[in-house]
Amino acid sequence: MDLQTLTDTTAALVEQGRGILAIDESTPTCNKRFDALGIPTTEENRRTYRELLVSGEGLSDHIGGAILFDETIRQTTGDGEAFPDFMASRGIVPGIKVDTGAKPLAGHPGELVTEGLDGLRDRLDEYREMGARFAKWRAVITIGDETPTRACTEANAHALARYAALCQEAGIVPIVEPEVLMDGAHGIDRCHEVTATTLATVFEQLHTQDVRLEGIVLKPNMVISGLLHEDRAGPDEVAERTLACLRDCVPAAVGGIAFLSGGQDDVEATEHLDLMHRLDGDLPWPLTFSYGRALQRSALRIWQGRPDNVDDARNALLERARLNSLAARGRYHADAEQPV
Ligand code: G3H
Repeated sequence: MDLQTLTDTTAALVEQGRGILAIDESTPTCNKRFDALGIPTTEENRRTYRELLVSGEGLSDHIGGAILFDETIRQTTGDGEAFPDFMASRGIVPGIKVDTGAKPLAGHPGELVTEGLDGLRDRLDEYREMGARFAKWRAVITIGDETPTRACTEANAHALARYAALCQEAGIVPIVEPEVLMDGAHGIDRCHEVTATTLATVFEQLHTQDVRLEGIVLKPNMVISGLLHEDRAGPDEVAERTLACLRDCVPAAVGGIAFLSGGQDDVEATEHLDLMHRLDGDLPWPLTFSYGRALQRSALRIWQGRPDNVDDARNALLERARLNSLAARGRYHADAEQPV
């Protein structure tokens, strides 16, 4: 393993206020989002949409890398250039989602374990050949009355660590994503407790598998109330609790932390990140964003699948990325938001 290659990639992804653009929705998930807006669910539409997202002029000022789905990494832009080459030429590191999805965990109703380890070494070699320099694996932890169980937390942490070790062996930076879902009526205390246990278990497993922490990016959820909680915590509490939890559980050696948005709306996700930087200007790791929905929402609504709207949609994504980049340095102001 060449640690320098891994740390160079990590720095390109998350340093200097840059974040990561997640456009790695599986085909069914992407189709579901298109369907909701009446956009035809064709391969060409998925290709066109992903191209508009990564082609904004100056996007790399705010975005260090973008995570692709298997279909996209094999596609070409309208000008016939492979997506990874196109992105790399614009200063955006190409990444790839490599898990094969969260499946029911045997014996544990309502809980999921992420699969995809079989054959992963060969797939990583192929993706590296295509230009991928980082990868993503998402584990899903569900909060319920009886969940998460120890079995679920440990199975997911173990898989994340084995995936991360395989990535580093291949010279690919692993994004380690243990997502504690916002779904449910739980309060912020419960999210805090479950997130802390999840992170502690993940770092224990990463240590067991000899994963070099300088060469990973952690992609956690924020510590936040469940979407159905009757009295959801405000932004200041989310920022304080999240920072406290990360400081308790994430070793300073970690190369970077890039949050998922997980169902937060766009402005909320930006504001939370900004507040964390305003609270603490001396964090041990780069702290930034790796949003999917919270970066794409306006762009997708504006595009509507229509060629005439491509420029406006691209600009909407660029603007959202710019605001998040400001937030990643504690320099965002809500009055910069444009009414959509
Ligand atoms: O795995 C999830 C994505 O990479 C992030 O998506 O920001 O919409 O939660 P999200």
